[in-house]
Amino acid sequence: MNRERETWGSRIGFVLAAAGSAVGLGNIWRFPYITGQNGGGAFLLIYIFFTFVVGVSIMTAEFILGRNSKLSSVGAFKTKNRSWTFVGALSVLAPFLIMGYYPVIGGWSLAYTVKSVTGLLSSADIDASFVNLITGTWEPLIWMLIYLSFNVFVILRGVTKGIELASLILMPTLFILLLIIIVKGLTLPGASEGLKFLLKPDFSQVKPSTFLVALGQAFFSLSLAMGVMTTYASYLGKEESLPQNAFIISTLDFTVALMAGLALFPALFAFGMEPGQGPGLVFMVVPKIFAAMGGVGPIFSFMFFAALMVAALTSSMSLLEVVVSFLMDEKGMERKKATYLSAGAMSIICIFASLSQGPMANYTLFGVGTLDFLDLVTDKIFLAIGGAFISIFVGWKLDKDMLYKEFTNNGKSSVGLFPVWYNLIKYVIPVMVTIVAISGVLSIEQTGVMVTGLVVIALLALFSKKI
Ligand code: PHE
Repeated sequence: MNRERETWGSRIGFVLAAAGSAVGLGNIWRFPYITGQNGGGAFLLIYIFFTFVVGVSIMTAEFILGRNSKLSSVGAFKTKNRSWTFVGALSVLAPFLIMGYYPVIGGWSLAYTVKSVTGLLSSADIDASFVNLITGTWEPLIWMLIYLSFNVFVILRGVTKGIELASLILMPTLFILLLIIIVKGLTLPGASEGLKFLLKPDFSQVKPSTFLVALGQAFFSLSLAMGVMTTYASYLGKEESLPQNAFIISTLDFTVALMAGLALFPALFAFGMEPGQGPGLVFMVVPKIFAAMGGVGPIFSFMFFAALMVAALTSSMSLLEVVVSFLMDEKGMERKKATYLSAGAMSIICIFASLSQGPMANYTLFGVGTLDFLDLVTDKIFLAIGGAFISIFVGWKLDKDMLYKEFTNNGKSSVGLFPVWYNLIKYVIPVMVTIVAISGVLSIEQTGVMVTGLVVIALLALFSKKI
């Protein structure tokens, strides 16, 4: 394999691609809701700490692994220490499985973008429209396939002409769309109630579990432990400062999360609606807000769902790229073959995930359908345990001198920060993340799912030396 490795064309291209991965469904519907329910401004303070102390540190660690090895996730671990290959393998398997359902939700967002301007808002029962869409057979499959093909289109074009170019166009678009919706929401009468819900600190809502929620959300939102940051940094030049870029990307991710809250809650409260949880908030409550706006509703609804789809798209692109670059680095495949093969396999899982919402709702595994199963195994088990292992690996198994050189670009920048980061990543963060990982895994109610996830990790640990 003597193919030349692609590199990002510009710093802003890399930053927006990584921020694009970070900014996703997690920012737009999960963050505002969690914040509102966990004490508003009080939660925000805890979240800021976890994002900027723990998140930035782990992101920097993943950047070091990727840039130093110039390999995607499996190779990055394997070349450093063969016994730890399984952590890399876990961070390729997890994105692969997430791509077994993420395009289904991406397809719903695409459908709603189009439907916003073709009569959705005037339908008599908006809730029923959503249920009809996702429980259907062919319609959601077609939207999913169109959405997945957008991803394939970008990834086939490679790092600079694909991911970088798409991010340079899509991320500013997302920003502008959200900004317009925020201005509209804040100028509605009664909007200040929503601001209070989102921002007013209520320390009585802060429980020990709040800290777990905050760290889990920060991890998911920053795309950590998914091989993404390692893979993206493997295309990064030697002169870029890793901690600085990690800080900028995390700031962008946090800003968009906050913007999503500002786009949703003021308008929600202005129309006297309840902040509902999960997909319900986005697909059932949000269209009602826009319907209540009257004539301009459809255009704002279109902008909102387009923003949601763009956010999802730049995240799923990164997940596909992790799998593709693994096949290229470790199996010597060409990009084209690797992309078609991965997307083909993903689309088959997606078919089951989509059908699990309706026609195949009775086929469950340990009590949950395909979509929920994949979500639980990846988010609650692989991401949490993978994150704990990554921090232990970087803090305890890697050469301090190498870490120093990568962190400071051979002593040229952020020299004073290095000891702070090193002690965090070696002592503080592994303990914190391990506690969160264990309590997260134990909180899974479906024992069968929990055992399956843990068995998969054990098998990877036993056999991944062969990868
Ligand atoms: N960070 C994305 C979000 O907030 C989700 C994601 C996780 C994407 C891991 C890629 C990798 O929605």
